[in-house]
Amino acid sequence: MDNDKRFVTGLDVGTENVRAVIASVDKEGKIAIVGFNEGKSAGMRKGVPANLAGPAGSIDKMLGDAERMGGYDVRSAYVSINGSTVMSNHTEGMIAVGTVEHEIDQEDLIRVEEIAVSGRIPANREVLDVIPLEYALDGQGGIKDPLAMSGARLEVRACVVSALAPNAENLKKATAAADVQALKLIPTSVAAAKAVLNERQKENGVAVIDFGAATTSIAIYEEGDLQHVSVIPVGSNNITNDLAIVLAIDPELAEEIKTRYVTGDFDSDKSLAIKVGKHGERTFERKEVEEVVKARLEEIFSEVRKKLKAAHYDQRLPEGIILTGGGAKMRDIDIFAKKCLEAAVKIGLPTGLDGVADAVSKPEFAVSVGLAILAAEESELAPVQGKKHKKSLKKPKEGNFLKKIFSKF
Ligand SMILES: Nc1ncnc2c1ncn2[C@@H]1O[C@H](COP(=O)(O)OP(=O)(O)OP(=O)(O)O)[C@@H](O)[C@H]1O
Ligand SMILES: [Mg+2]
Repeated sequence: MDNDKRFVTGLDVGTENVRAVIASVDKEGKIAIVGFNEGKSAGMRKGVPANLAGPAGSIDKMLGDAERMGGYDVRSAYVSINGSTVMSNHTEGMIAVGTVEHEIDQEDLIRVEEIAVSGRIPANREVLDVIPLEYALDGQGGIKDPLAMSGARLEVRACVVSALAPNAENLKKATAAADVQALKLIPTSVAAAKAVLNERQKENGVAVIDFGAATTSIAIYEEGDLQHVSVIPVGSNNITNDLAIVLAIDPELAEEIKTRYVTGDFDSDKSLAIKVGKHGERTFERKEVEEVVKARLEEIFSEVRKKLKAAHYDQRLPEGIILTGGGAKMRDIDIFAKKCLEAAVKIGLPTGLDGVADAVSKPEFAVSVGLAILAAEESELAPVQGKKHKKSLKKPKEGNFLKKIFSKF
């Protein structure tokens, strides 16, 4: 039975955490999550590799448990790409296809897409995706699918997603050093959207905001298509750092205060003091703590709003905003986000999958689950992805990665 199944992996290489989700896909295309794990990340700065050994080591270490759980050796994966150089541009392209009787074919679509990209995206950027938003035939616009339609002049308006090429290359090198081939690089917010959005939301207009440790990544959808991608190089760790500075405390204690005692419902009646430690050894004034958190959140959401405005979607998203990422775990953060963004806000959880899906139905797993779904959907087109464990399950790969790095580079 297992021979009828393919295995795919989503690998989210974050600044603070690395996560993997292994999924099986059967002949009918049904996806089940069979393995997952998360671990601390190293060597990543604001969503981008700052060295190769750090991310390679953390991927290597974390994958061991996911592989044992899934009973599968990960050799390739769809990998998240992040950082402020990940962005989208709207471009246009036009080609002559012959006489009016000519029927548009696949080759024409590829050619007009190439024209829409070539010379319009700087050479030092790697194109991650090209989404045709609208076609026009002989000046007649509003065409979604021109295949087999007739016309002499084909035009396309497209959304081109790209990242700085060295960042993309280094990410591929880091995963390769952990023995994982990056089949495709997908922006974090686009991957998260795959896990938490439905078709209706994408059709009507919706934004996903992946609130990570050091980045806040945005993806906007309308008319079923990706319209905008951008990344703000600030995240939930900035709240922790602000608390550490203002309260003159260790970042560990600041993190505990943030994750356990702060809620986004700043106006509600709560105890005036925050007592931290097993025996309530340290007491902090709630007002002081909340002021720090509120100021940073306001700044982050105002940056988000600037991006929405620039993309012409501020207060123009009928399906509102969906928050994912570890930063979205702050209790009642949706209440505060709603006030700042003046839009409906919900927390996005990956749902609707089989297997051990419940265990990854958390906002911080949205990216890795979305990557696994994308890999599963496109697996027919991808090369064979790794192999099933044969007899015994492998030992953890820890410790090997440095050798691999030096042998490879
Ligand atoms: N309960 C909680 N309340 C508030 N913040 C939380 C909570 N749990 C985790 N976080 C925060 O979430 C962040 C980690 O999120 P996540 O794992 O999505 O980041 P990442 O993917 O490593 O980073 P990035 O996407 O920016 O590269 C940390 O800043 C952490 O403090
Ligand atoms: Mg992340």
